[in-house]
This record gives sequence, C-alpha cells and structure tokens, in this order.
Amino acid sequence: MHHFEYKNGQFHCEDVPLSKIAEEVGTPFYCYSHATLHRHFTVFDKAFEKVPHTICFAVKANSNLAVLRLFAKEGGGADVVSGGELFRALKAGVPADKIVYAGVGKTKEEIRQALDVGILMFNVESSQELLAIDTVAAKMGVKAPIALRINPAVDPKTHPYISTGLKTSKFGISYDSAMDEYRHAVSMENIEVVGVHKHIGSQITLVSPFVDALEKTLDVVKNLEEEGIGIRYIDIGGGLGIPYKDEAPPHPKELADNIIPMLEKTGLHIIFEPGRVIAGNAGALVTRVLYTKENEEKIFFIVDAGMNDLVRPSLYDSYQHVAPVEESVGLRRKISSDVVGPICESGDFLARDRVLPEFKPGDLMAVMSAGAYGFTMSSNYNSRPRVPEVLVKDDSYDVIRDRENYDDLVKGERIPSYLK
Ligand code: LLP
Repeated sequence: MHHFEYKNGQFHCEDVPLSKIAEEVGTPFYCYSHATLHRHFTVFDKAFEKVPHTICFAVKANSNLAVLRLFAKEGGGADVVSGGELFRALKAGVPADKIVYAGVGKTKEEIRQALDVGILMFNVESSQELLAIDTVAAKMGVKAPIALRINPAVDPKTHPYISTGLKTSKFGISYDSAMDEYRHAVSMENIEVVGVHKHIGSQITLVSPFVDALEKTLDVVKNLEEEGIGIRYIDIGGGLGIPYKDEAPPHPKELADNIIPMLEKTGLHIIFEPGRVIAGNAGALVTRVLYTKENEEKIFFIVDAGMNDLVRPSLYDSYQHVAPVEESVGLRRKISSDVVGPICESGDFLARDRVLPEFKPGDLMAVMSAGAYGFTMSSNYNSRPRVPEVLVKDDSYDVIRDRENYDDLVKGERIPSYLK
C-alpha cells in the first residue's frame, strides 16, 4: 500500500499534487511519501513483534538523511556496506550500536571507523576479512563484535544480478566451511563472536527461499551451540520483494508466520535488513515530457529524466509503472511506446514496449516504485546534475536534497599547471 493516488484529476503524493512540486522544484525529482515509509516500517515491525528484533534498514536502498532519521526515530538501526553509509547513518542519528556492517571489501580504514564508533557487529564475508578485523581491533586495543555471513547456497529465484546466496556468488562464507571459520574466529584475541548472518538476494517473491536459507542458517546456530560458541544475534538479511507490476510477494506478516516459529526457538535477538520492501513503493521519479517522436514501429516519449537518474530499467530490465500526473492524460488513445531519456545510449529508457496513453510535450509522468535503489544508484553520467529529493508529509513537502548545479559537477576537479 502506498500514498500516491488521483484526487480531483491530479496525481497526489499524500495531499500534495505532484504538479505543484514540479512547478516549484522543477523536474525531474524524486518524491517520497512520509506516510508510506512510516507505514511500511511499522507493518514490518508489527509483523515480528513476537520476537525480540531490530530493523536495520538497508541504507543502500535509500540513503537520504531525512529517510534514515525517520526510521531511527521509529527505533530502527541501519545495515551499511561502506564507510560512507556508516557516516550517513550516524549523521542521521542512528545509534552506532544498532548498525550492522556487511560487504565483501571492507577496507582497514573503514573497519577502524566502525570500531571507533562501536557498531553492533560486522557481518564478515571471508577469512581474510576476519583477519583484517582482528588486526585492526588489536591495534586499537578493542574486541570487534562479528557475525559470519553464511552463504547457504539457496536460489532466491530473482534477477541474477541481485542473487547473492548462490554457490557462485562472491558473498559470504560457504555453509560447509562456516564452522571451521567460527572456530578460527573464537580463537582470535580481538574478535568477539556475537552472531550469524545471511542474505540471499533481493526482490524475492516467494517464502520458500527464506525458509530454506533460514533452515541452513539455523543448522549453523545449532552447531555453534553444540560447540559451546555462544551467540546473541541472528541477522536474516533483507530481500523481501514488492509488486512493481503483477508480482505477488508475501506480505511481511506471511513471511513472519512462516519463520517466527523457526526463529522463536533460538531465543536469539533477530536482526532484519529490509530495504526495498520499506522504501520501494514509497517513492516516485517525476519527469516531464520534452518531445515525442514517432517512427513506423512506435512512439518515443523523450523525457527529462534518464538512466543516470533511474538505472533500474536499463540495468535489470525492471518494470516501473508509468502514471500520468494529469488524470485526463490517461484517457487519451493508448499507443505502443518507449519512455526514453536524454542520455546518449540506446539503453537509456525508463519504460520499453509499453502501451501508454499518448503523452504530449509538457505532460508530467510519475515513474513509480522508485523509492528504493532509485536516487542511490543515480549518477552524473553525461554531466547531468543529480535531481532533488522531496519528502511529502500530509499537505506539505520538504526538499530533502537540493538539485545539484554545474559547480557541483566539477567540484574537486583541477587542471594541472602544465595545461594552464
Ligand atoms: N542486506 C544486504 C547484505 C544486502 O546486500 C541487501 C541488498 C539488503 C540487505 C537489502 O535488500 P532488499 O531488502 O532491499 O532487497 N540495486 C538492486 C538491488 C541490490 C540489492 C543489494 N543488496 C535493485 O535495484 O534491484
């Protein structure tokens, strides 16, 4: 459920017409609904209220400070994968002891920063990383809390680029070597083993991969218990899918009903790392049609947002629903079309081979389900300033990130003296 709908012929985010924001802020822009973000977080939280848990929002999905603060105020933590994400989470007010840190390539400097602020735990992805954490912690004279990220080799049945728990994936430590690695970890002076972690992929629309992966993770928990290696946390990652088109992913409650009985028995504190399910349908990218162009096959709606602003359609062939901002535009004749951006690449499209109403230059469209992995994956390609982000709450909105300007584009660049 989200809070984007037509009222009085105009597409609104909550009680604000998107056309009003477009007038005042310009296009393109990302628009997020406070009510939807809040609701999704609460629904997830409620679904798991029977077990002690912390929701560590996956910062990579939407890293705006205002969005992170919103979840922090709800008692949430953060799942980070870089020093930059750690910086953002802390700046947004997420308590350090609610931050988990995953990723296969943590640098020694990033490890030091995380130890310095006292994060909840590192989700360790390899033997060498474990060694690096131990070394850095020793230098600092502290003990580093860690979980091992187990790769359970379960197919999440999603897009190959966002499958992370396969045998062929770069992520995690194989299920078969997990215990050896744990034994190694407990023998290290400056490592404190506190948990176990798994995350098998994203946009998962079935319950079974979650259950299968959790079963294997619980095997590890059992083995740890048998060996007297005590842990406190089980981090089951993120990955729950959302409806972009006609997918019917399980509701958090359905997932909870299936896995709570498994989790309850452990007596452990559960950590969740949802990203997309919280933020995905809470955001839209609003863009304006610049030109239209027709050939024998179809019509192109050339809009002012491109693959640099929203790369998901190009990168994953994702379906993002396109809604006219003016409801009456939807009544125009329907036509086979591509929504394309201004970038000089054929892969620059936001929608392809879609039957859409005949948009005209000047019309606004909302590209839906863009609240997760939308702005965070945007770039300056073709030297396009990144677009603003807007947060709507009830009948007002705040610009929570300014549109970049041309000076921002060249910030930090310099011309060597021999070229002057
Ligand atoms: N935890 C870890 C360790 C992750 O790697 C991820 C996502 C998450 C949690 C959050 O997963 P979520 O609940 O959002 O599915 N850019 C891609 C998605 C990449 C996901 C990477 N990892 C996309 O736009 O579809």
